[in-house]
Amino acid sequence: MGENDETTAEWYLRFARGEAHGRSEIYERWALGVAAEPRLIALLDELPAQKRHPPLLFAVTRLLGAPDGAYEPWRDWTIAHWPEVRAEALVRLTQTNEPLRCAALLPALALIPGPLALLEVGVAAGLCLYPDRYSYSYDGGAPLHPADGPSALLLECSTSGEVPLPAALPEVVWRAGIDLAPLDVADPADDRWLETLIWPEQAARLERVRAAIAIARADPPLLIEGDVTDALPALAAQAPADATLVVISSGVLVYVARPGRERFVSAVHALDARWVSLEAAGLFPTVVDGIGRATGLTHEELRGRFALALDGDPLAFVAPHGDRVDWLARP
Ligand SMILES: C[S@@+](CC[C@H](N)C(=O)[O-])C[C@H]1O[C@@H](n2cnc3c(N)ncnc32)[C@H](O)[C@@H]1O
Repeated sequence: MGENDETTAEWYLRFARGEAHGRSEIYERWALGVAAEPRLIALLDELPAQKRHPPLLFAVTRLLGAPDGAYEPWRDWTIAHWPEVRAEALVRLTQTNEPLRCAALLPALALIPGPLALLEVGVAAGLCLYPDRYSYSYDGGAPLHPADGPSALLLECSTSGEVPLPAALPEVVWRAGIDLAPLDVADPADDRWLETLIWPEQAARLERVRAAIAIARADPPLLIEGDVTDALPALAAQAPADATLVVISSGVLVYVARPGRERFVSAVHALDARWVSLEAAGLFPTVVDGIGRATGLTHEELRGRFALALDGDPLAFVAPHGDRVDWLARP
């Protein structure tokens, strides 16, 4: 069985028709093929459910050298190399790191008095810890640059509503993060995994991640291995006392089951810190209820929408990768 009690074949079919359709012809083709391939389904069914996630399987096979493109050669390669694919899938996590999310985080960070000490949970390689080192263009307008001039990476974002865009980027004096498996931008093997997690046809994303890796390499963050909640107090205690500590969670708490999320929220509130989140709106009662009050939308209508929130109060709808911000009118 896959997610939500569907079979693995149904899961791959849903992925092909939903997430992959229009985003990656190759992944769509592979997922349709897997769904109709009893040999692969039987192999996949031997893995724990979270390791059958289509993008994880596809990234692992590409990392190990599977041919990108037509389904049949990929299928034959995958079946022939199953012991290696299986071993790699068992140790890998979906760790897509999207620096473009900084374009959506920035309006929330700009509401917090600086200088800022950033601590991201579920940090991957830390590419979202450099909001002060990227350039931004909102709605195609004049770019907003770092204090020392234009960045090698320009992040573009469209908006609606009264987004409180800052006149200058925040001052960040400390950057740190926690991950179950932190990735080191200085390690070519980790960079390869970061790059392989990007779907085959997404050339602009690949360029963006490469540019962000170069920026992070010049001033690497402090990353520690651990759980979003358990490792939080000790790392937070290392933040400089003369900066505002900001805990960032972006695209991570969906991987944490509900009791764990509740523990995380309590742990953040126990710190002398602000909390900026970019997550599925339905993950937090305060966010989903706040948006409901601001928009009149029901929980059902908010399913699948992502929200930017500050200290658990919703500020905006955002695109999951950060390329769109729709600021909410205050109720
Ligand atoms: C999809 S990535 C998002 C990375 C980054 N936050 C971003 O927005 O680009 C999710 C990350 O969370 C990490 N992760 C998942 N569950 C975790 C947990 N319980 N504790 C710490 N890290 C976790 C994964 O290893 C992965 O690197």
